[in-house]
Amino acid sequence: MKIVLIGPPGSGKGTQGERLARRFGLEHTGVGDLLRAEVAAGSPIGQEAASYMDRGELVPDELILRLLVPRIFAAADAGGYLLDGFPRSVEQAEQIRAQAAEHGATPDAVIYLDVPRAELVRRILARAAVEERADDNEQTVDTRLQVFDEQTRPLIGYYRGRGLLRVIDADRPVDEVAAAILDELPPAAD
Ligand code: AP5
Repeated sequence: MKIVLIGPPGSGKGTQGERLARRFGLEHTGVGDLLRAEVAAGSPIGQEAASYMDRGELVPDELILRLLVPRIFAAADAGGYLLDGFPRSVEQAEQIRAQAAEHGATPDAVIYLDVPRAELVRRILARAAVEERADDNEQTVDTRLQVFDEQTRPLIGYYRGRGLLRVIDADRPVDEVAAAILDELPPAAD
């Protein structure tokens, strides 16, 4: 199974991604987590990505593709993937599309987690009170939401047009969201 999760900051991509990956025995590729690990390690990718992330902007495509393409194809070869945070623009989706099709790595389903803006801000600021994430503050949250609207939201139409999109009302408790996602996917082999 090859699943892509898209949604605005705070919509629950990481939370649901972990669960789904466990349920389907897939590797959970959380792009933000991978980038934060690169930043913490002080790697060349991390050094270049840090300032974009701190401002809440997208990291340049070239860096993202360098980090992700080998992982996506390796995961597809190993039985599938759970991608949380890629693609984040139609440009990113298009840059990988032909190569992914050749490699048998085209997604089977794209899950869009739909949550109203006020709840997104509430969740992120609640997390800021207990965790230290450089981009969890009121000003950067505004930028992240604007970047989502301008650059990521067009993916909804892009994937709907390909018959892959499943829209989930993710403004409800974690377990209910997880159940709603599972209803949209073929059952996991036990
Ligand atoms: P990333 O780490 O992916 O950040 P994000 O998209 O802003 O998303 P969040 O991690 O804030 O939220 P989430 O949707 O994962 O929700 P979560 O489960 O954590 O990316 C960070 C940065 O990396 C980007 O800004 C960009 O700079 C860069 N980047 C990443 N991918 C890129 C790409 N492809 N191209 C270029 N740049 C890229 O939940 C949030 C909180 O809400 C948690 O506290 C959680 O416990 C809580 N919560 C979750 N679900 C619920 C629920 N149902 N009810 C109540 N609370 C909930």
